[in-house]
Amino acid sequence: MITANWPELEKKYLMFNIKRPQPVMVRGEGVRLWDEAGREYLDFMAGWAVNALGHCHPAVVSAIQQQAATLIHTSNQYYTIPQIELAKLLIENTVFDKVFFGNSGAEANEGVVKLARKWGKINKAGAYTVISTLKGFHGRTLAMVAATGKPHYQEPYKPLPAGFLNVPYNDIEAIKAATNSETVAILIEPVQGEGGVNPATQQYLEDLRKWCDEEKLLLIFDEVQTGIGRSGKLFAYEVYGVEPDIMSVAKGLGGGMPIGGFLAKQHAAVFEPGDHGSTFGGNPVACAAGIAVLNEVLNNNLSEHAGKMGEYLGSRLRDLMSKHSLITAERGLGLLRAIDLRDEVGAEVVSRCHEEGLLINMVSPTTLRFMPPLIITEANVDEAIDILDQVLGEF
Ligand SMILES: Cc1ncc(COP(=O)(O)O)c(C=O)c1O
Repeated sequence: MITANWPELEKKYLMFNIKRPQPVMVRGEGVRLWDEAGREYLDFMAGWAVNALGHCHPAVVSAIQQQAATLIHTSNQYYTIPQIELAKLLIENTVFDKVFFGNSGAEANEGVVKLARKWGKINKAGAYTVISTLKGFHGRTLAMVAATGKPHYQEPYKPLPAGFLNVPYNDIEAIKAATNSETVAILIEPVQGEGGVNPATQQYLEDLRKWCDEEKLLLIFDEVQTGIGRSGKLFAYEVYGVEPDIMSVAKGLGGGMPIGGFLAKQHAAVFEPGDHGSTFGGNPVACAAGIAVLNEVLNNNLSEHAGKMGEYLGSRLRDLMSKHSLITAERGLGLLRAIDLRDEVGAEVVSRCHEEGLLINMVSPTTLRFMPPLIITEANVDEAIDILDQVLGEF
């Protein structure tokens, strides 16, 4: 039942306005969302790769309900059990030794840069510059805008904080040329998500590891988007067999609850009490949700499932490519995939898909991104492909 003109009220009260007309979402279950008019949508956007288990997964709902009825928040002055349990689960299932919890991807990456700078003070004569890549994306805080190699996000906020350099992606020579005595770390997404779903080459990540070892630099992977099973492994570094020193996580970890954090190997875990902090970081409800998500992913081999579904989605998108000359390329890793379009019709394709009940995302006017929940089935993929097939036929 429609109870108010929500788009009008949004325009009146919120600073951030939605650009194009969009449905008012009121309910979610599994891979589906419903708007206020009762229309059903197949969700291949998953709240920007957040709803790893789909919407309102019973394990996540129950964990949140139970924790909310027990202890919602206290301070990090005290031990809280979900935080310690989630840390244990993350450490036991990765190559890292220590974790720090925050509330979002950008905050996680801020913490990572602080950690790297402190490490540089101790180990590298105060080196502090972090090299990241053009078309990378690390968040919207001021420092992360500097790390995010997209002039469009940087221009309105200049001057940007010092100590960041952006170089081309998948180009080891550019990293080598940019490295100097002030360089402390390389910050990289194993697959650039917002930048158009660009996977790193195997050689690039191996060369980066080698370069960091030779030059005594920290290698940092931003797995905010690729993490928690989306790549076909729990984390994308496992797909490549290249271990970073530090890794940031967020998005899928909370299954929809706001949580972020970073993991570090012992030699890089240089924070001492008082060095860094967050009022809400490690919040019991968010951590309880994180425990439920990780247990579901681990106990049901959802990473492997995501890998298989990703291959299936990729093959079905390539089927469409052979049928529609509008599609010029398909790429991705696991359930993070994209197609390129010959013409700048991305916005129109996305809104026609929405009208037909399929939620997808456009990363540029010529690139569409697909990042469904990890729990999708082949039937869900076929349904999405049928809608896309029909819509592309109109262009
Ligand atoms: C790779 C990557 N890092 C960081 C972020 C920022 O995360 P948040 O929006 O939670 O701050 C994003 C968000 O899309 C991301 O994709």
